[in-house]
Amino acid sequence: MTLLVTGSAGFIGSCVMRQLVAETDETIVSIDALTYAGNPLSFGEAAHSPRHHFEHADIRDEARMRGIFEKYQPRAILHLAAESHVDRSIHGPAEFVSTNVIGTLTLLQVALDYWRGLPEPQKSAFRFQHISTDEVFGSLSPTDPAFEETTPYAPNSPYSASKAGSDHLVRAWHHTYGLPTLMTNCSNNYGPYHFPEKLIPLMILNALEGKPLPVYGDGLNVRDWLYVEDHARALRLVLERGTPGETYNVGGAAERKNIDVVHTLCAVLDELHPQGAPHNRLITYVKDRPGHDRRYAINFNKLESELGWRPQESFETGLRKTVQWYLDNPDWVASVRSGDYRKWVEKNYEGRN
Ligand code: NAD
Ligand code: TYD
Repeated sequence: MTLLVTGSAGFIGSCVMRQLVAETDETIVSIDALTYAGNPLSFGEAAHSPRHHFEHADIRDEARMRGIFEKYQPRAILHLAAESHVDRSIHGPAEFVSTNVIGTLTLLQVALDYWRGLPEPQKSAFRFQHISTDEVFGSLSPTDPAFEETTPYAPNSPYSASKAGSDHLVRAWHHTYGLPTLMTNCSNNYGPYHFPEKLIPLMILNALEGKPLPVYGDGLNVRDWLYVEDHARALRLVLERGTPGETYNVGGAAERKNIDVVHTLCAVLDELHPQGAPHNRLITYVKDRPGHDRRYAINFNKLESELGWRPQESFETGLRKTVQWYLDNPDWVASVRSGDYRKWVEKNYEGRN
């Protein structure tokens, strides 16, 4: 049995990969273009497994994708490859439409042709699993109920609009062609191997270096946080037990205001890395992100009641593990903070003070 995983060198894809290699007997073919966000060091132990085959390829390269399906004859594909950072999408939206929409279209076409040619029972068992985000549902007020699977789409950023576009394609490929698709919409993830342009790893590394902790706007925007290993477990469960054509919300039951996240993080750092305490003296309010969504919240009752999934980590236990991981892995951190990373930090934060 072989599984394809796209975006396998990224934050969530690499976690899925490491879990699959450690906890199953399957062969994993991992596909990644190794953009700035992809790092083969994130494969961890899975890098050396004889059951892991890495294909350095772009999902928009139709011929390569056809070749990979042909060669490995997968039983399913977990599609995580994407441009994933809202701030970058504001500076350069075209790449988001290209990878997230055209890349997904390319994979859907290749998977559809492959699926049509499969004999039974492999054809009925095949799955195209698309990994999406809660950001496609737009922004909530403090009193709105959490997003459900039936909440209408209202994406507000170039990132979420491009993810919404890809979600609609996946839905249509099931409805029109019968491709057995699965989709998940998940809240904000955090954990080990997270690229340090996103809130939590950026704050950890800035705090360790005594740099300002840049909180956008009034710091009262709310996100729901899920530990990445819990997300990976949810994805594996949906792959095995989800119903084709259905979507599943995945969340952490951990809504937090950004400023509270940063204060909690500072308290954990004070304990695990007391040099530099109190770290919250570094908190600096900066100019807001344009179009900044106020609140996301996820109702994951469907996943819990139908498939029995719940997060295993609380925000506090997950955050502690995350901080400890960054303290223990300076080599990984150094490997992702290239010249390009420094250029991005300058571009995103200049003029915000
Ligand atoms: P990430 O940016 O860390 O990783 C994305 C990976 O995709 C990188 O390894 C990159 O090299 C690869 N990639 C980008 N363009 C590619 C292309 N054209 N061809 C092949 N590979 C390409 O992102 P992530 O946080 O791991 O997110 C993975 C998926 O989960 C995305 O689809 C994202 O929308 C979704 N998601 C993320 C979160 C989150 O909090 N991070 C939450 C919900 C959903
Ligand atoms: P981010 O990690 O970029 O995820 P997303 O925008 O997809 O939710 O940001 C999480 C929250 O943190 C979001 O409300 C923006 C805010 N934020 C800051 O306040 N400062 C920062 O430097 C960054 C990167 C994000």
